Amino acid sequence: MTAPRATGKTRISETEHSEIEPLRQRFGEIGQGHVFGLWNDLTNEERVQLAAQAGQLDLDDLQRRRESVINPSPPGSDETIEPASAVTLEELGDRERKRLANLGEEMLRAGRIGVMVVAGGQGTRLGWDGPKGGFPIGPVTDRCLFEIQAQRLLNLRKRYDVALPWYVMTSAATHTATEALFTDREWFGIPPEDVRFFEQGSVPSLDLSGRLMLERPGRIFVNPDGHGGTLTALLRTGTLDAMEQRGIDRIFFYQVDNPLVNIADPVFLGLHETSEAEMSCKVIRKLEPMEKVGIVARVDGRVGMVEYTELGDEERYARDPNGDLRFWTGNVAIHILNTDFVRRVASDPERWLPYHASMKKIPYVDSDGKFQEPAEPNGHKFERFVFDALPAAHQVCILEADRTREYAPVKNASGGESPESARNKLSQEYRRWLGEAGVALPDTDALIEIDHSRINGADDAAALQIRSIEQAPDAIRTSPGARS
Ligand code: UD1
Repeated sequence: MTAPRATGKTRISETEHSEIEPLRQRFGEIGQGHVFGLWNDLTNEERVQLAAQAGQLDLDDLQRRRESVINPSPPGSDETIEPASAVTLEELGDRERKRLANLGEEMLRAGRIGVMVVAGGQGTRLGWDGPKGGFPIGPVTDRCLFEIQAQRLLNLRKRYDVALPWYVMTSAATHTATEALFTDREWFGIPPEDVRFFEQGSVPSLDLSGRLMLERPGRIFVNPDGHGGTLTALLRTGTLDAMEQRGIDRIFFYQVDNPLVNIADPVFLGLHETSEAEMSCKVIRKLEPMEKVGIVARVDGRVGMVEYTELGDEERYARDPNGDLRFWTGNVAIHILNTDFVRRVASDPERWLPYHASMKKIPYVDSDGKFQEPAEPNGHKFERFVFDALPAAHQVCILEADRTREYAPVKNASGGESPESARNKLSQEYRRWLGEAGVALPDTDALIEIDHSRINGADDAAALQIRSIEQAPDAIRTSPGARS
């Protein structure tokens, strides 16, 4: 005999009686009962979904964050901030550089390195509709951020004869589209078994009085939990276990929005290892006090990061006797993390990865079920930052990078840190490689683009043994000037 099919109606009435009432009551007790205020207007399916979403929320965590919104403590008010010591470009001579590079190369060849990119952001500030990694950034072609990074990986795989797996952290907003992009582009030439996607978590936003908000009548508004969510997601999704099973014990971490990142830089890997560090940071010399980069510093005696929004004016404008910025160590969000360190931090996120609240304009549905688009910030989004793990490390190593050679962030639609400035920086770096290899260069106005899978530095360019760009048309392209 066939059992009667369970209808949506049956499912919800069961849910309503056994689960919803205690849930509603609990939410009411903690001042969040309004979440169910539009219950009577919801379809059965919407009720099931809202009940499931509400049932999964960590209410203790919610209470803590509500309290932090209602009674905020002034950021860093009683902290002492001192400059952190970094290994500078100047002090790292050629011999030491070579020694560290050899060590890093050994680590690469031994298969100890996994490369991880945080790509949970959307290109909203760029006016780009989709995962930021799909943004076209090639100075001459439409190669996207992911493709340029994939080409670097292809080069390193060949150079070191190693699989060098790529771990791509996505968010709820970018996961499906990112997977589709990789499938569509045939994983940019990397074997699919060496690319692993994992999704960061999300966290409910709160209005200015600490109440949950509704994205639509049957859905609580949540935001991605920040790139600090990488660490908890690595553990939660089994990605960390999978890494270690492959023999990986060091993770090279970077942000998708930097096409100039020197992926798995052997010098950085070697320095991390000789310093016996658990987490390392690359920094650049900050150019001016208002530049929007976080600062790696000693906070209450331990290495940590002070975000640009949280740096006090006294430190921001402080100069040393030479007139240089005292706090110059700008964060480019390039790190190396040991897998056992990630496990330790991610196992105790309340201790090591606090949420940072930031006020935002959050569209929401009001108590009458009407959609509202606020003109002013009306709520807090909460994010964890990966660099908050720094104080948990027994040892941190900080290495200066040449900002013109390793940092070309794509953040804004125009002006500084824009696609145009990034394309110019890429082109300049390619020009340098070719120049060092003795290749005749086009006019200074011309843009150059190189296929990183073929040429990933001046040494690769020299190995081609060419004298003109025309001799390697499949690897090097030029255009007369800026793209429209
Ligand atoms: C960030 C750093 C800043 C650093 C600068 C360097 C923070 C809080 N600040 O600033 O210290 O100097 O980069 O470029 O990070 N992302 C996710 N999931 C999230 C949030 C972000 O994957 O939930 C990814 C984005 O895709 C992006 C990166 O993290 O690749 C940076 O995020 P963004 O919000 O652009 O940080 P910035 O304000 O630029």
